[in-house]
Amino acid sequence: MKLKYFSHSAFQITTASGKVILIDPFLDGNPTSPAKSNDVRADYIILTHGHGDHIGDAFKIAKRCGSLFICLNELANYVAAKGFNAHNMHIGGSHMFEFGRVKLTIAHHGSMTPDNYYAGEPSGVILTIEGKSIYHTGDTGLFYDMKLIGEMTPLDYMLLPIGDNFTMGITDAAKAVELANPKTAIPMHYNTFSVIEVDPMEFKKKVEAIGKKCIVMKFGEEIEL
Ligand code: NI
Ligand code: MN
Repeated sequence: MKLKYFSHSAFQITTASGKVILIDPFLDGNPTSPAKSNDVRADYIILTHGHGDHIGDAFKIAKRCGSLFICLNELANYVAAKGFNAHNMHIGGSHMFEFGRVKLTIAHHGSMTPDNYYAGEPSGVILTIEGKSIYHTGDTGLFYDMKLIGEMTPLDYMLLPIGDNFTMGITDAAKAVELANPKTAIPMHYNTFSVIEVDPMEFKKKVEAIGKKCIVMKFGEEIEL
């Protein structure tokens, strides 16, 4: 499978069978994304929470592609009320889709939509596809249960915010990697706006200092997992 990073929290997973899954596709209003909403397609769209920098262009893309949304119950109801197909889930639950398994986790953050609807709790998501597990933490502060999350699902990749201000900063994110214990950490949610400007190489150094691998993906880069 392939993992593409658009910048911010926006990723695209393409499975070996060609299914495309977008996570938090914030592209058109995202000054750092080299791709815009018309450049992508999606069979599935996973949203971690209702904030505008995560819903992003999800509706535009879903309208064009007929994508199925996968998200937490209250957010899924919001999506369905806008006329889209959604699969409702909630924290702690997992479900097997044709591409692989999706499990929602807690995240410590908010989840109001841009048009001021309460979208339930924010979440993180663990994807298990083709024998590999990928934990996208969503927007969150550091929490000790990341240790439990990593114990219950041994993690190959952990995608986590490092930009500070709205989420974990570098020091807390390095601790999160230590707790969740993934094989490889990939930083996200930084340098999109001036308030979340940090040096991802500083995070990489801290992660490597605890004996873990870190890949700092370029905005627009795609890697094979
Ligand atoms: Ni947020
Ligand atoms: Mn955010």
